[in-house]
Amino acid sequence: MTDTASPLALVVLAAGKGTRMKSDLHKVLHPIAGRPMLMHLLASADALEPQRKVVVVGAGREQLAAALGTSAELAVQDPQLGTGHAVQQAEGALAGFAGDVLILYGDVPFVRTETMRAMLERLHGPDKPAVVVLAFEPEDALQYGRVIAQGGAVQKMVEHKDATEAERACRLCNSGLMAVRGDELFKLLARVGNDNAQGEYYLTDIVNVANGDGRVCAVVVTDDPDEVAGINSRAELAEAEGRWQKKRRLQAMADGASLVAPETVWFAWDTQLGRDVTVEQNVVFGPGVTVADNVVIHAFCHIEGARLASGTSVGPFARLRPGAVLEEKARVGNFVEVKNAVLHAGAKANHLTYLGDADVGAGANIGAGTITCNYDGYFKYRTVIGERAFIGSNSALIAPVKIGADAIVAAGSAVSRDVADGELRLVRAEQLVKPGWADRFHDAMKRKKAERK
Ligand code: UD1
Ligand code: MG
Repeated sequence: MTDTASPLALVVLAAGKGTRMKSDLHKVLHPIAGRPMLMHLLASADALEPQRKVVVVGAGREQLAAALGTSAELAVQDPQLGTGHAVQQAEGALAGFAGDVLILYGDVPFVRTETMRAMLERLHGPDKPAVVVLAFEPEDALQYGRVIAQGGAVQKMVEHKDATEAERACRLCNSGLMAVRGDELFKLLARVGNDNAQGEYYLTDIVNVANGDGRVCAVVVTDDPDEVAGINSRAELAEAEGRWQKKRRLQAMADGASLVAPETVWFAWDTQLGRDVTVEQNVVFGPGVTVADNVVIHAFCHIEGARLASGTSVGPFARLRPGAVLEEKARVGNFVEVKNAVLHAGAKANHLTYLGDADVGAGANIGAGTITCNYDGYFKYRTVIGERAFIGSNSALIAPVKIGADAIVAAGSAVSRDVADGELRLVRAEQLVKPGWADRFHDAMKRKKAERK
C-alpha cells in the first residue's frame, strides 16, 4: 500500500511491436541480469502492493501469458492505435476498481519504487490533480513528447511531431508514465480523439482534456533520466544491462564483498553475497546463486544455481552448474565442473574433475581427473562417496555406484561396483615388470642404426 492508503492497480503497456529488436521473443521478455525486463518492473511495483495488474499486449501474447501465469491479467490491444487506446483495453479488467491507477511501460523496466510512490503521493496532494505525469530532462530531448509546465502544474502535453518550434525548445520530456484516479481514467480516455500528426489516440491527451475542465494536472520530475530509459534495440538492452551491473557491483562492495576488478564481474538479478567474500577477475553469476560469508571465488569462474557455504573456495576456472552445493570449507579448484552435486564440509575436488549427480562426503578427497560417469545416453544415475574417502587421480566412477567411508580408490580405476567402507579398490591391469629391458632395447637399436651407415 502507498502512504495514500488507496488501493492500487497497475496498467503495463506492452503492445508495441518492438520491431527494432528484430526478435521472435517479445521485447519485454528480453532478459537483463538473467530476468525478463518486465519482471524487473513488476518487482519494483510489487513493493507498492498493487491489488490488480493488467498487462496490455498485442503480438506475442502467448509468450507473455506463459511468463506471467496468474500473476497478472492480460488485455489484448489489436490493432494498436496509440498509448491512450492501449490503456483503454484495460477498462474491462479494471471494472469496478476505484483506486489509483499507475500506468507503466513494459520496456521501461527500471523505474524505482520511490519514484512510483512519489507519483501516487502527488496524486493525493491537497490540489487533487487529475493526472500526475512523470517527466525527465534528457541530455538530448530528441523525439520525446514535451511537458509544458509551470510551477509543477502541466499546461499542455504535446508530442514531438505535433509540437511548434517553441514547444520543441522545452527540455522537460514525458517519460510516458502516469498516475490517474481509477474512477476518472476511462472517462477522460473516452474524450480523447486521434486528430493529430500520427492519427493515434494519445494517452497524453487526458492531461489536455482534464486541463480543459479546469482541473490541475501535476508533473513529478525524476533527477535520474536512466530510470525512465526505454529499451527499443539490442544496443539499448546492452546499455541497460551495463547500467544495472554497475549499480549491482557498487551494492556488492557496499555490502562487504571485495571485487578485485568490479567491471569484470557479472551478477544475476538474484545473486546473494555474504560479507568478506572475495570475487576475483572475470566471474559470471547466473541466476540462483547464494554465497555465504568468507568465500573466495577465484578468477574466471561461471556459477549458476549454486550455494556456497562459508569458508568455501572456488576456481580459478571452475564451473558450478544448477544444484551445486559446497558445504562449509569445501573446495573446488581449477577446471572442475559440478552439477547437481553436494560437496559436504571440507570435501575437496581441486583439479580437472566432473562431479555430476553426486554426493561427496565430508572430508573426501577427489583426485585430479576424476569423472563421475552419470549418464548412459538415456538416464542419469547418482554417485555417493563416503566421508573421508580418497579417490585416486584419473578414476572413472560409473554410476550408480557407492564408495564407502574411508575407502581408497586407486588411481586410474574404473569403478562400476560399490566399494565398502574402509576398502581399497584397484581396477587396473597387473603391472608387467622387466628390469633392464629398456637398456637392452636401446643398446640393440643403436647397434642396428650404426651398422646401416
Ligand atoms: C510515448 C509518449 C511520449 C513519450 C514517450 C516516452 C504518447 C502519445 N507519447 O511516445 O510523450 O515521450 O512515450 O518514451 O503517449 N504501446 C502500446 N500500444 C500502442 C502504442 C504503444 O501498448 O498502441 C506501448 C509500447 O509498447 C510502449 C509504450 O506504449 O511500451 C510507448 O510506446 P512508444 O511508441 O514507444 O512511445 P511513443 O508513442 O513514441
Ligand atoms: Mg509510438
